[in-house]
Amino acid sequence: MSMPPDPATGGPVPPPMPDAIRPGTCIFANILRARRSWLDLLSEKSYGMLMGEMRLPLKRLYMPNEPSLVRRVMVEDRASFPKDRAYWSLLDPVTGESILNSDGPAWERQRRMIDPAFEQARLKLVFPIMADAAQGMLARVASAAAGGGRLGVDAEMTHITADIILRALISLPMGDAEAQKLYDDFHIFTRSLPTQTALALTRVPRWLGWPLLFGRGRRAARRIRARLEAHVRPRFAAHRAGSPGPQQDILAGLLNAVDPVDGSRFTFSEVVDHLAMLFLAGHETSAAALTWAVHLIATHPEVQERMVAEIAAEVGDGPIGFADIKRLRYVLAVFRETLRLYPPVGSLPRVAATGTRMRDKTIAPGCPVLVLPWLVQRHRRIWDRPDQFDPGRFLAGGEAEDKTGAYLPFGMGPRACIGMAFALQEGVLLLSLLVRRFRLEPEPGHRPYPVGRLTIRTREPLPVRVCERAAAETARLP
Ligand code: HEM
Repeated sequence: MSMPPDPATGGPVPPPMPDAIRPGTCIFANILRARRSWLDLLSEKSYGMLMGEMRLPLKRLYMPNEPSLVRRVMVEDRASFPKDRAYWSLLDPVTGESILNSDGPAWERQRRMIDPAFEQARLKLVFPIMADAAQGMLARVASAAAGGGRLGVDAEMTHITADIILRALISLPMGDAEAQKLYDDFHIFTRSLPTQTALALTRVPRWLGWPLLFGRGRRAARRIRARLEAHVRPRFAAHRAGSPGPQQDILAGLLNAVDPVDGSRFTFSEVVDHLAMLFLAGHETSAAALTWAVHLIATHPEVQERMVAEIAAEVGDGPIGFADIKRLRYVLAVFRETLRLYPPVGSLPRVAATGTRMRDKTIAPGCPVLVLPWLVQRHRRIWDRPDQFDPGRFLAGGEAEDKTGAYLPFGMGPRACIGMAFALQEGVLLLSLLVRRFRLEPEPGHRPYPVGRLTIRTREPLPVRVCERAAAETARLP
C-alpha cells in the first residue's frame, strides 16, 4: 500500500515535519517546548534565514545557517568556537571527558590515538560482525512477518545497531544477559537528557542543584561504568602484563593505542570512557537514521523497487559481501538522503570563545552558537524542493555534489565523525538485506512526528507492515 497523494499538491506526501512555532511565543513556554523537542522551537522563517538568533533567559543563542558561516565555525575558525561544555558535559557521568566531548590538546591526543582503530582496514574486519548480527535482525523481522506483519521499527533498529556496536567494541553479542543490562541502562540515562539539555542551553547555573533532579539517570550511569569496568579490567591487566587475548575488537585497538607524540597509553579509566562513548555514539545515531530510512522506503514504493532491482543486478540472491557494498550506489543514496532529511545529530552545539560578529549580529563571549544540520540541510535557498525525499540528489551529477557546508550529517572538519564509514557500511548492508527479503509498507493511519532530543527520533514507536517477498510472489501466482 503506497501513501495516498498529498491533497494540497496532488504530488507525493512530503516526509513528516515538526509543527512550526508561531512568532512571539512566551520564553518560558519555549523552554517547556524545548524539553519535549527542540525542533518544536523552529518557526517557518528559520528554514530560510542565513543567521538566526534566539533570546534565552540568561543569554542569546545564535544559529549560523549560511554554508560559509557553517564552514567558519566548524573548520576555518574552529578554535574560536570550541564545543559547548555546558551541553556536552551532560554526557560526562557515562563517557567521562572522552573524544566526543573534550577539546583542545586533550582531544588532539585522544583523536591521534583512536584514529587507527577506525582505519579503512578495520571496516573489512568489522564487516563479518555486521553480517552475522544482521542474521538475527532478519530472523526477528521474519517472525514479525509471520505473526501478523507489524514490525516495531525503532525497537528493531536500536536492537540491531546496539548488537553490532557491542560485538565490534567488546565481542559481546546482544543475546548475552550482560549486554541487555548495559543496553537498558543506556536508555534510562539518555531519557534523562532532554530536560538537562534545555536547562544547559538556557545557561541556568548547575549550582542551583538541577542535576539532583535526575537521580535515575545518574544511577544508571554508575551502573554502566561498573559493568564496563568489570569487562575491561581482566583484559586491561592481561594486556599490560604482555599477554593480550586473541580478540580483534575495538577494545583491543584502544589497549594497543600509543600516542605517536609522547608515547603515552590510555589509562584504565580512559579506556572505559571511550568504550562508553563509542557505544552511545555508535548505536543511538545509526538506530535513528535507519528508523527514518525504513519509514521513507515504506512510503516511497518506487524507491524501494529501485533498491531491490539494484541489489538483484549487483549481488543477486547470494550473501552480500564486503566488496558488494560500494556497488550498491542507489541504496547508499537512499541512506544519505535520509541523513539529509533526518540528521540524527540535528544540532552541533559550540560556544563563542571571544566576542565576534556574524553577518549583522554581534555575539558576546560565552554565547551558545548552534550549527543545525536539521536547518541547513533543509534550507529553502540552498536545496531544490528541500522537504521532499529524492535519493537522486546523491547519485553522480546530482544536486548534492556542490553542497559543501550545507550537508553535514557527520559534522565537518577535524571534529567530523570518526565512525562515518562504519555507519554508512552498516546502513547500506542492513537496508539492502531488509528490502531484498521483505516488502515494507506503511502502517495505515500512522504518521510519525519528528522530535529532537539526544537524536532526531519519532515521537511514538514507529510501526511498519512487513511481508516476505517470496511469499507475496507465490500468493500472486495463478
Ligand atoms: C548515522 C550514524 C552517525 C551519525 C549521523 C553521526 C554523527 C556524528 C556527528 C554529527 C559528529 C560530530 C559532532 C560535533 O561536531 O559536535 C560525530 C562525532 C563522532 N562520532 Fe558519529 N555519527 C554516527 C555514527 C557513529 C559511529 C558508528 C561511531 C563509532 C563507532 C561514531 C563515533 C563518533 C565519535 C567518536 C565522534 C567524535 C569525533 C571527534 O570529536 O573527534 N559515530 N558523529
